[in-house]
Amino acid sequence: MRTQIGIVGAGPAGLVLAHLLHLHGIESVVVETRSRKYIEERVRAGLLEQGTVNLLIETGVGERLQRECLTHHGIELRFNRRGHRIDFDALTGGKTVTIYAQHEVIKDLVAARLAAGLPLILEAENVSVHGLNSASPSIRFRMAGEEQEVHCDYIAGCDGFHGICRPSIPDGVLTEFERVYPFGWLGILAKAPPSSEELVYNYHERGFALLTMRTREISRLYLQVPHDEDINSWPDDRIWSELRLRTAVDGDWKLNEGPIFQKNIAPMRSYVVEPMQYGKMFLAGDAAHIVPPTGAKGLNLAVADVRIMAQAFAEFYATGKTHLLENYSQKCLRRVWKAQRFSWWMTSMLHRFDTDNAFDQRRQLAELDYVTSSRAAMTTLAENYVGLPWD
Ligand code: APR
Ligand code: PHB
Repeated sequence: MRTQIGIVGAGPAGLVLAHLLHLHGIESVVVETRSRKYIEERVRAGLLEQGTVNLLIETGVGERLQRECLTHHGIELRFNRRGHRIDFDALTGGKTVTIYAQHEVIKDLVAARLAAGLPLILEAENVSVHGLNSASPSIRFRMAGEEQEVHCDYIAGCDGFHGICRPSIPDGVLTEFERVYPFGWLGILAKAPPSSEELVYNYHERGFALLTMRTREISRLYLQVPHDEDINSWPDDRIWSELRLRTAVDGDWKLNEGPIFQKNIAPMRSYVVEPMQYGKMFLAGDAAHIVPPTGAKGLNLAVADVRIMAQAFAEFYATGKTHLLENYSQKCLRRVWKAQRFSWWMTSMLHRFDTDNAFDQRRQLAELDYVTSSRAAMTTLAENYVGLPWD
């Protein structure tokens, strides 16, 4: 098999890239280890920046998104039993964020790819990349017991944090930057209408909690838990009683409860690898960087990376120039590091740390007080949350 761009991984990064390349008239083959059902049902975050939404709509895969999404004009920060709204409309000149689950984005992209009759190889086994410094790098894998090889001009490593692309780069080339947090998020999906119109980020002495949603009927709720927590120690009753405690507020607000139909614990880390390219291979999304979910930046960063990558490939195939390809990593990392900074800051402000002492708690409360009372501080939060400019 031969193609122009070989894409490893059919997550948001790989599928958006394949879609953008197709619109530029560039051929690609996507190779993914999991099944269609698995990638279309995997529960992940669900908050899209305006730039991400615009890109999906402008490129023709936003039709269901526009019908089913929920548009949000602000968020609430809740602490000391009081809620404080951050008004995105007023602070960012009318920018918004959108609730639409990541696996719904995946379904729309898979449907578009299959409708166009373009190659998406699922359930590939033993995927590996070769010849990263040669004229014709390749992706090898096993399919139905047979060895296959896709030769290409370039490889896009979109295979997430645990993929094989990043580890295929020789030792000594990459520098890793990492921070692991001593906690994770226990996330649930519940058949209960959201308790508030907008997301509520709760700072509480028992730990952080987030109220978010998927639809007008389904709530998505998160609790900070120790990083090594066993999910079995969290029966439904305990989850609801902990959520009630951490979200309690003066006034007549009440937490809506309902049957829990999905439960998981995700670790939290900040991670960046530099550079995001080696020879003929370019990394994007979680393959190159991870953010803690507090800033809701993971999917949006993946989309921002592949938008830059697609532009670079488009320039190369149109003019033969490699200038944008050479600068791919540098261009992405400027934005990646700002999103890292924001995600780390939100995480540090809102969570209880093991080492917390009375000073740190007072400092966090002062920060929350400042961020909800100074227009300058609120603007800083708002402009990062809705997404910094792409260029
Ligand atoms: N070969 C082929 N595909 C692979 C391999 C491999 N060896 N290893 C992993 N994959 C696939 C995974 O099964 C997954 O479908 O690569 C895909 C990577 O997708 P994501 O992990 O979703 O990463 P990315 O596309 O960068 O999107 C980042 O996803 O993890 C969330 O919160 C994160 O929202 C962010 C977004
Ligand atoms: C989600 O809806 O899953 C979500 C929203 C905001 C976050 C994290 C997750 O910060």
